[in-house]
Amino acid sequence: MNHQLRAGLSTIPEMDDTQFGRWQNLLEERTGMCLAPQRRSFLQTSLGIRMREVGCDSYEEYYQRILSGPVGAIEWSTLVDRLTVQETRFFRDPDAFAFVEQYVQQKAADPSTESVDLWSVGCSSGEEAYSLGMIAERWLTPAGKQYAVTGTDISTIVLRKARAGKYQGRALDWVPADYAGIGFKEMAPGGALEVSDRLRQRSCFSQVNILNLSASPLQSQHVIYCQNVLIYFRRWRRREILNVLAERLAPGGILVIGLGEMVDWQHPLLEPVHSSRVSAFVRKQANSTGETARR
Ligand SMILES: C[S@@+](CC[C@H](N)C(=O)[O-])C[C@H]1O[C@@H](n2cnc3c(N)ncnc32)[C@H](O)[C@@H]1O
Repeated sequence: MNHQLRAGLSTIPEMDDTQFGRWQNLLEERTGMCLAPQRRSFLQTSLGIRMREVGCDSYEEYYQRILSGPVGAIEWSTLVDRLTVQETRFFRDPDAFAFVEQYVQQKAADPSTESVDLWSVGCSSGEEAYSLGMIAERWLTPAGKQYAVTGTDISTIVLRKARAGKYQGRALDWVPADYAGIGFKEMAPGGALEVSDRLRQRSCFSQVNILNLSASPLQSQHVIYCQNVLIYFRRWRRREILNVLAERLAPGGILVIGLGEMVDWQHPLLEPVHSSRVSAFVRKQANSTGETARR
């Protein structure tokens, strides 16, 4: 840490229990994220740095600023970006992506399938959404099928990065060899990695707060992929979110979450996939009377 930054951090005011509780509540109420007491110094440092940037001297003054009208809303979006964990990478969970690949291969071979919709919920800077896109591109395009990928996140700043589709060259290390030639433009030696025009044209990124999924028009999705988002939420909230996502699946569609992110949840529309490596559910097919039936 450089000298100037260390000097700056030392002037960040101490946060008392009351202030910590207020910020914890605000964050949870608006994003669902539950900030554990051990993360008080993270909150204090992140808020302190931002308060210095905007010229606020106390947590109270900054809190009031966040609550005040359109200016507060803009400031809030900057803060959300600073407080959320945005770690991600291409094909982050290989077993889960292999499961999606299997499903997409079936759709490619299915004569009644014309197009496949894939949704990355909590997509961060886009690597997860583009990984889904690469799978779709590899299997559906040669079979003459269409596909569309949607990535949604609460942070407008990561969404901007996702739309740009530009990554550091070393991000390619996470991409399986079979996919390296599918989703990217030719890379100059030592250059940046750029998602292909074709994949970008089929991908769309928009701001959706997972607490407010009812405001999202996305319906009848074939793949809903939601990993490493729910872990920051209380269990009752995870359950509520999954209940909504279940309803956004097309019959036969799959919901993939992170392993161990929700062990005791079930839904009448879904069949769990029995696997020790993947946590996923399949939406039951509708029968001729429109009721859902076991596959
Ligand atoms: C750790 S990243 C996970 C990224 C990706 N899903 C993965 O597994 O690699 C968590 C993402 O969830 C987003 N997030 C947190 N709370 C959210 C909310 N209430 N609504 C939508 N996205 C949220 C964050 O902005 C962040 O980009």
